[in-house]
Amino acid sequence: MKSSIVLSASLATIAVVVGAVLTISLKGQSSVKDPRQERFTPRKDIVDEGPARFVFMGNTPVADTSNATEAPTGFDDLTNGFADQGPAFDTINEDNVVPLRSFNDSRFVFEEVETKEDGLGPTYNAQSCRECHQNVVTGGASQVAEHRTGHTFGSEFFEAPGGSLIQSRATYPDIVEHVNKEDPVRTFRISTNTLGEGFVECIANSTLIAIRDGQPDTMRGTALKVAVLEGDGSARIGRFGWKSQHGSLLSFASDAYLNEMGITSPLFPDENTSSGVFVGFGSGYDPLPEPEDDGTGPSAFANFIRSTKAPARGPITADVIVGEQLFTQVGCAICHVASITTARPGRIINGGAFVVPQALGNKVIHPYSDFLLHNVGTGDGIPFMPTAEFANTAKQIRTAPLWGLRTRNRLMHDGLSFTKEEAIQRHLGQAKDVKQAFNALTQAERAQVMAFLDSL
Ligand code: HEC
Ligand code: HEC
Repeated sequence: MKSSIVLSASLATIAVVVGAVLTISLKGQSSVKDPRQERFTPRKDIVDEGPARFVFMGNTPVADTSNATEAPTGFDDLTNGFADQGPAFDTINEDNVVPLRSFNDSRFVFEEVETKEDGLGPTYNAQSCRECHQNVVTGGASQVAEHRTGHTFGSEFFEAPGGSLIQSRATYPDIVEHVNKEDPVRTFRISTNTLGEGFVECIANSTLIAIRDGQPDTMRGTALKVAVLEGDGSARIGRFGWKSQHGSLLSFASDAYLNEMGITSPLFPDENTSSGVFVGFGSGYDPLPEPEDDGTGPSAFANFIRSTKAPARGPITADVIVGEQLFTQVGCAICHVASITTARPGRIINGGAFVVPQALGNKVIHPYSDFLLHNVGTGDGIPFMPTAEFANTAKQIRTAPLWGLRTRNRLMHDGLSFTKEEAIQRHLGQAKDVKQAFNALTQAERAQVMAFLDSL
C-alpha cells in the first residue's frame, strides 16, 4: 500500500518519542526486554468475552451449538458476509482500488505486489501476502517456508542477531541475511491457511480455556496469553500461527507486513535489521521513513481474512463417517477438536478493538484444532519469546488445524512430512498414547481414518 508521506512522517516522530520513553522506563529492571518483546507483553490479564461455549463429555469434546448456525464454507473467492462482495474483481486496479470497501477490494490489496518504493524490504521474504497464502484460492496455505534460527545456552534461547526470523531476500545483495554458524537451532515454518480465520478470531477466550481444562492431564494444552497490539492492553488467548503467537488478525497482519515484506506500519513501526545491523530509513538502504504504511494495508488484510469462508469439506462417504468416529474414539479429537462455536454477535473482543459482527458471531466451525500449544515431540526449539517465562514453548507447537488438509502436500510445522501417515507417526509426547491407539486399529479401520482425513 502507498501511504501518505505526511502522516507517515508525523507518526514516525511519535514512534521515536515512544521508543525513547520505553528505553528510559526499562532502565534498572532486572530483565530488560527489547522493544519487540515489550510490544508482545500484555499489560493486563485476559478479559471476559462471553461464556464458554464448550463442554467435555468424558474425553469427547462437544461444542455448545444452541441457536448457532454453521459458518459458510467454500474455496470460491466469495465473501462470508462480513464485507460486501464489491465490484467485479478483474475491474479493480491500483488506481481505483478502495481499501476496506469490499471483499474484492481488500483481496486486491492482499494480492498487491510491493516494491522498494512502497516500502518493501530492505530485508523481506516475499512481495505480497498472496505469494505465501494462495492455495487453492487467495488466503489459503502454501509450500513456502520461513526460516528461523538461534542457539540455546543452558535452558535459555538466544535469537539470531536481529531476531530468529532469517529473511530470505533483500533489496541489496550485501544485506541479505545469512545463518550464523553459532546458531545451530534451525527450523522451517511452513505457510498456514488464513481462510475462515475471522471465525477463529471470534472464539471467546473462555471457550479455548474450557477446551484446555477438559483435556486429560497428560494431554492438556497450553493457552498463551498474548498482547493485542491495537487493544487496551488486555491480553487474549493466542490462536494464530504455529506458536499461537497472536490473538488478533490486525496484530498478525501488521506483524506479517513487517516480517514477511519489510513494510512498517503503526503497530510495527521499527524496521527490521539485516542480522542486527540497522538498514532502515537513513542508512541508505531504505528510501521511506517509518511507518511506511499508515495502517490501511494491515486493516485491509485483516478485513479480507475476516471476510473469507472457512475451508470446505470434500465428499462425505460412509467410510468418512466411520473414519471420523474412529478418529474421535482413539483420541485424536481431544486436540484436533471437530467443532467450536464463536461468541455471540455484539461481544467485545480484542481488548475493546473489535465487536463480534453478525456474519462471524454464533457460528459453528470445524477447524479440527484446539488452537492450543502441545508438546507432541516435534517442538522446533524456538520459544514464543526468548525469555525464561516462555522456555517451555520451545518444545510446543499449535495443534495444526486439519480443515483444508486435502489441499496440502507438505505437512507439520516444518513441511517435512510428506504423507498423512508420516505426520501421524511423528506424533510423540502428549500424543504418544493416542498414536498407539491409532496404530492398534485394524488396517481397514486405519484406511477409514485416512478416508476421513482426505475429506478435510
Ligand atoms: C514468505 C511467506 C509469507 C508471506 C509473504 C506472508 N505470510 Fe502469512 N504466514 C506465513 C507463515 C510461514 C506463517 C506461519 C508463521 C508462524 O506461525 O511462524 C504465516 C501465518 C499467517 C497468519 C496466521 C495463520 C494461522 O495459522 O493462524 C496470518 C493471519 C497471516 N500469515 C497473514 C499474512 C498477511 C496479512 C500477509 C501479508 C502482509 C502475509 N501473511 C504474508 C508466510 C507468509
Ligand atoms: C496432544 C495433541 C494431539 C493429538 C492427540 C493428535 N495430534 Fe495431530 N497434531 C498435533 C500438533 C501439535 C500438530 C502439529 C505438529 C507440528 O507441526 O510439529 C499436529 C499435526 C497433525 C497433522 C499434520 C497436519 C498439517 O497440516 O501439517 C495431522 C495429519 C495430524 N496431526 C493428525 C492426527 C491424528 C490422525 C491423530 C490421532 C491419531 C492426532 N493427530 C492426534 C497435536 C495432536
